[in-house]
Parts: sequence; C-alpha cells; structure tokens
Amino acid sequence: KIAVLAYSGGLDTSCCLKLLEENYNYKVVTACVDVGQPEEEITKPVEKAKEYGVFAHYTIDAKEEFAKEYIFRAIKANAIYEGYPLSTALARPLIGLKLVELAKELNAEAISHGCTGKGNDQFRFESIMRAKAPEVKIIAPIRDLNLTRSEEIEYAKKHGIPIPTESKKYSIDENLWGRSVEGGELEDPMFETPEEAYGWTKNPMECTGPEYVEIEFENGIPVKINNKEYDAVELIREANKIAGRNGVGRVDIIEDRILGLKSRENYECPGAIMLITAHKALEQLTLTREEIKFKEIVDSTYADLIYKGLWHEPLRLDLDAFIDKTQERVSGKVVVKLYAGSIRVVGKESNYALFSQELVSFEDKEIDQRETIGAVKFHGLQASIYESVKNKNK
Ligand code: ARG
Ligand code: SIN
Repeated sequence: KIAVLAYSGGLDTSCCLKLLEENYNYKVVTACVDVGQPEEEITKPVEKAKEYGVFAHYTIDAKEEFAKEYIFRAIKANAIYEGYPLSTALARPLIGLKLVELAKELNAEAISHGCTGKGNDQFRFESIMRAKAPEVKIIAPIRDLNLTRSEEIEYAKKHGIPIPTESKKYSIDENLWGRSVEGGELEDPMFETPEEAYGWTKNPMECTGPEYVEIEFENGIPVKINNKEYDAVELIREANKIAGRNGVGRVDIIEDRILGLKSRENYECPGAIMLITAHKALEQLTLTREEIKFKEIVDSTYADLIYKGLWHEPLRLDLDAFIDKTQERVSGKVVVKLYAGSIRVVGKESNYALFSQELVSFEDKEIDQRETIGAVKFHGLQASIYESVKNKNK
C-alpha cells in the first residue's frame, strides 16, 4: 500500500517519511508541488528522496496555475487578512489538489502531510483533500503522535535524519506570493524581528531611492510593469524584486489562527503589498461609492475564505462572479512611489475613471452651485428631527 507524502526534505517531513514506513507500514511516494519556492527547495527534496531511497518522487509544477488562477484572483479581491496577504494560505488548496490528483493516479491508499495540530495548514490541506477524494486516508504523523519539536529532533537523531543547523532556526514557507517566517524566538511578541529573519526585503535603513513604479492593469489583473509586458509568473517575480529592494512588504502581526490561537507572525510579501495597493487605488478611481462599499465586505469575506483554506467553498465562486463583473472597468495605470519600506500611490489614470476633473474643479460652472441648496437643506434630516423630539420629551 502506498502513501503520497508532501515532502520538503526538512525535519518535519523527513520524520513523517520514516514514521509512515515504520509505524504505518506504507511504501512512500514523496511529492513536491512547485508554487514558486526557491529553486533549492525543489531540488533538495529530489536529492533527499533519492538519498533515502523512496519508492518514487514527483515534482509537480503548479506555478502558472498558482499565478493565474489563485494570485490574480487574490489581487482582484484585494485579499488581505489582518494585514497578511495570505501567501502561504493561498497556495495550500492548490498543493492539496495536486497531491490528490497524484494519489488518485497512483491508486494510493493515503495522503500524508507534516503539519502540526496547532497550525492552519492542516485545515487547509485536509478540507480540500476530503472534498476531492473522500476515499483517500489522510495521515498527519506529527499531529497523530502529538510530537513536540524536541521529540521530533530526538526521533530524527535515533533514525539518522539530519537535524537542521542553528542557521535554520525559523520555520519558513515560501512561494511566489510571499515568505512566512515563524517559530523559535519570533514566537515572543516582544522580541523584535532581527534582520537575519528577512530574505526578500532590504533593510529599510539601507535602502536608496525613492523608486517610481508604473503598474498597468487590465480587468483588475496586472499586465505591465514600467511599460513592459510580463507573463503571470514573471510579473509577480518582478513585483517582488522591485518592492523588495525598497524594503516594502514586511508584515509583523499578531494573527488569529483558525483554531483561535493568537500567534505572532512575520511575513515578507513585497509584490503582494505593491500590487494590491495599486489595484485598490484603481478601484477608487473606477468603481462607484456603492460598489466600493459593498466590495469591501466581499473582499474581507474572500480573504477569510482563503485564510481558512475554503477555496473550494461555493461561496468563493459566487464572490468571484461578483468580483469579475466589477473588474470589467478596473483597467488603467497606477504609479507608486517606494521609499525605504514605504509605499505611496502618486498617480492613477483610467479610461473608465468616474472621476472628472472638470466636474470637481472650483473653476467649473457645469454644476450650478445653487441647485444643491435644497439638497443641503435636508441633509441629515433625521438628526434634526431627533434633536427636536429630544427637546420635546425633556
Ligand atoms: N500563519 C501563516 C498562515 O497560516 C503562515 C504559516 C506558515 N507555515 C509554515 N510552515 N511556516 O498562513
Ligand atoms: C504547522 O503548524 O504545521 C505549520 C504552520 C501552520 O499550519 O500554520
């Protein structure tokens, strides 16, 4: 019997590999889904799996699907949860889906992951897996055996699994959309995140600049940066590079996990922060007040769904229908100014702008000011009535 294991070659999933063989009696197929993590995180599992002598190892390239079907939707929804652009969260359902596809192809009995029982990723992986393959067993050895990190290290030592060195003291998760850093000393909210924890963003104290960036959107999707066209994956990489070298995209928050635990989390999402900031500015220019207000509710619900790993929840598709309709007019250009960790929108234009410089200008006579006198007179009518009722009942 075969188990497909989501494998990174790190401590957690290496322990899982051994445990699946020893405690659960599986032949293990390891798999790594490429959602834009650094090259070495794709090659390391390949080498480790070979070294270990697993039954088979698969690398599944899902970068383009991640960019087009997930990240672009997140941009259109301005998806941010408690300040976090959802980089890890957004990739989990796609990884889960790819693992399910592989498990079905191989007729595997089980799918396995290295999540703990305290985090969010277990929810995200398993809900999509259960929905798409209810017949496949899900095994999470670390959680099932209630292992602490020290117990894992103990187990690793006993079985000749390499222990991460001091330089790998954080738990890091990276993909196209961002980098999450947690664990160790960072768990203490009073402990200032040291420079060494950052990998994608330059120390703002050392940034030069400012740097101006022009981003062009078509139907809510970024298509050009500084007038150059990119395909989806390359555009996101370029956005990360530009914003990252200006120290933009560092997020240090107390986050409410799915389980209810509050935790201290660090993220670097330079491209996400830049693209969502620009996208929002273009919506301000092109959507009506009513649309913007309602879309804020939609956006925050959308972000919640992503955070909870409920990408396959029908409500997400319902919201997409609304969002896609609004984005028909979200086309145009935005200029942002990046400087030492800060980002400001300094220019925006669109053929669909509802903004009219003539109408709003104090020099124009197209709106006859006198015609608003009546409207102003009755503005806040209920508040006036309330005052008089209050006085009457004194
Ligand atoms: N708390 C974040 C989230 O729920 C990040 C999780 C990061 N995962 C990791 N293995 N370091 O999306
Ligand atoms: C874990 O706890 O396994 C990783 C982090 C998370 O799921 O939030």
